[in-house]
Amino acid sequence: MSQTRVAVLVGSLRTDSVNRKLAELLRDNAPDGVTLDLVDGLADLPFYNEDVDTELDVPQAARALRDRVGGADRVLAVTPEYNGTMPAVLNNAIDWLSRPYGQGALTGKPFGVVGTTPTPYGGKWSHADAARSAGIAGAVVVEDVTVSQSSIDVDVLSDPEVLGKLHDAVATLVDFQVDTAAA
Ligand SMILES: Cc1cc2nc3c(=O)[nH]c(=O)nc-3n(C[C@H](O)[C@H](O)[C@H](O)COP(=O)(O)O)c2cc1C
Repeated sequence: MSQTRVAVLVGSLRTDSVNRKLAELLRDNAPDGVTLDLVDGLADLPFYNEDVDTELDVPQAARALRDRVGGADRVLAVTPEYNGTMPAVLNNAIDWLSRPYGQGALTGKPFGVVGTTPTPYGGKWSHADAARSAGIAGAVVVEDVTVSQSSIDVDVLSDPEVLGKLHDAVATLVDFQVDTAAA
């Protein structure tokens, strides 16, 4: 059976990040035939700047990001919300993945976004913005793969219902078939 590789972009750099821990849980319990690759190095990316993204030279961290995501079959963002939108580190990664224009590493890749915050909305603005941005960057946004989980009343790292929703989201992303006829 061939392996489906999901590149995972974590939107929090915090050592104790709940979203990173969720991503690790999903990775460690991935279904047979599925590998979740937590893409590290997002903190090493310079802010996107067309002056340093040239045909001759690309910063090493950006090249590594593009290779990791470009080699994946699917992309999943696991992210909190900062000030009503996605954290800058995730936005910056999407910017790097959006270029070269029309040929970025996200092009044609099924994309989903999940995550948690300790507010009633669970980060839904962040998740909507990340999905819109990734879609503009060329990804195929899988609308059903969005989980904005509040952590106010629940331990998201151990609650079976929450973990079930997240595993279902991964399964939906993996099972999603790109309609190549429509592309
Ligand atoms: C700069 C900053 C802005 C934040 N803004 C929001 C916000 O707009 N909405 C929200 O739900 N939580 C917000 N939070 C709270 C984060 O969701 C919370 O810290 C979350 O646990 C971070 O995820 P992590 O544990 O993966 O790092 C903010 C936190 C920070 C540090």
